[in-house]
Amino acid sequence: MITSYEQLRDLKRSYLSFGDGSVCLCLLSAADLRLTFDWRNRDDIRRWFINSQTITWEQHLAWWQAYQQRENDFVFIIKELQLLRRPVGQVSLYNIDLEKHEAEYGRLMIGDERARGQGIATRATRLLLNWAFHTLGIQRIYLQVLKDNLPAVKLYHACGFTIERNEVQLYLMSILHYPSSTQYQGESFPAQPNRIYKSTSC
Ligand SMILES: CC(C)(COP(=O)(O)OP(=O)(O)OC[C@H]1O[C@@H](n2cnc3c(N)ncnc32)[C@H](O)[C@@H]1OP(=O)(O)O)[C@@H](O)C(=O)NCCC(=O)NCCS
Repeated sequence: MITSYEQLRDLKRSYLSFGDGSVCLCLLSAADLRLTFDWRNRDDIRRWFINSQTITWEQHLAWWQAYQQRENDFVFIIKELQLLRRPVGQVSLYNIDLEKHEAEYGRLMIGDERARGQGIATRATRLLLNWAFHTLGIQRIYLQVLKDNLPAVKLYHACGFTIERNEVQLYLMSILHYPSSTQYQGESFPAQPNRIYKSTSC
């Protein structure tokens, strides 16, 4: 169980990855930035984000620099392992508060068209929830979603989120408990410069 921000920082500097055999979450690296930039700026993706403006490459790089300094912010690349065998999206847990045992879920996108509608975002969300509740010791995860984003609202309900607040355009959803998954394989290795690591799960 993670009990300090120093431990979180070490985790973020490691080659952290975990998966369920068909989908794997791998901590975002500099090599993924071009892909996430392209996905994030697509009209059909950014329209569903609270901040839906297009971003410049310079803004993306500035975000990356700041992100690396934040020990309580984890962005994962979602990799499909069986058919496509490539990165297909991203998901994130951030604003991790170890005192309140809370965190925010977000930045979810499946950017690879061929990966849509196959349950990949649902699997990725389940993996992230399992890691957050059972490795980080988080007791409440919350998110915001636009009400008319039906695929997202549906998958959040399927993963156990419930509506905490019903606003004009948004739902604030949260989850307070997640059952431990037997399929979970978590791994984390100390980061080494220039080392290419391939985990057993990715
Ligand atoms: C939301 C998103 C991540 C879903 O990814 P995905 O891998 O295709 O999702 P899944 O296949 O795991 O599940 C989506 C669910 O929505 C359902 N769905 C898909 N299109 C739908 C629609 N138009 N209306 C209602 N439900 C729909 C699917 O059938 C599935 O439900 P099911 O498992 O009961 O069949 C993807 O559409 C995306 O990247 N959207 C743009 C970015 C975004 O909206 N991010 C979330 C911001 S809160």
